[in-house]
Amino acid sequence: MKKIAPSLLSANFGNLETDIKMVNESEADWFHLDIMDGVFVPNISFGFPVISAVKKLAKKPLDVHLMIVQPERYLENFKNVGAEILTVHYEACTHLHRTLHAIKSLEMKAGLAINPHTSVSLLENVLFDVDLILIMSVNPGFGGQKFIENTYTKIKQLQNLKIEKNLSFEIEIDGGVDIFNSKKLFETGATVLVAGNSVFKAQNPLEAISQMKN
Ligand code: DX5
Ligand code: ZN
Repeated sequence: MKKIAPSLLSANFGNLETDIKMVNESEADWFHLDIMDGVFVPNISFGFPVISAVKKLAKKPLDVHLMIVQPERYLENFKNVGAEILTVHYEACTHLHRTLHAIKSLEMKAGLAINPHTSVSLLENVLFDVDLILIMSVNPGFGGQKFIENTYTKIKQLQNLKIEKNLSFEIEIDGGVDIFNSKKLFETGATVLVAGNSVFKAQNPLEAISQMKN
């Protein structure tokens, strides 16, 4: 099943309610929320009070992408503000296996994100422990960046491992996704596409979501 997850990082923070309602009424599947700490990435986004406010209005699952160091310190807090899918970065976790299982024991889906420089082959020993792998197709930290073409190779490698091991985790692509590359990304093996700029800066966001999905 193809899913679209609009990233609220590109929404209008002065009027989030309007943008959340648009996503509720759209063909999108999840809300993607980017949490940045100014340490793991060179930007700071938003935290718990904003997620709680989104949760009150959102009619679709919250897909929370943590770009923070030591994410294991806050897993319960993210559960409490309504995260359904919680994704941590490979590069930010020393005891990754423990962290993924801690997320699951809190009854959230466990996601694992990798930066553009991180090889898919490094994931072999955690593939059985995840519900989702997020392949960053830009360097994390900002919306509106250019898609990195090598992502297709990584999707193919991951898709091969998924088939070989008969697994069913989602393959999510994040960064520079738009109506021009969405079809090829789904065909290559992606199952969830995150889209910030290409949704919220579009003339017609509902149409942009629909075009990417279909
Ligand atoms: C980047 C974030 C993305 C970002 C995507 O660090 O993880 O989710 O919002 O934005 P676009 O779709 O504009 O590249
Ligand atoms: Zn993201």
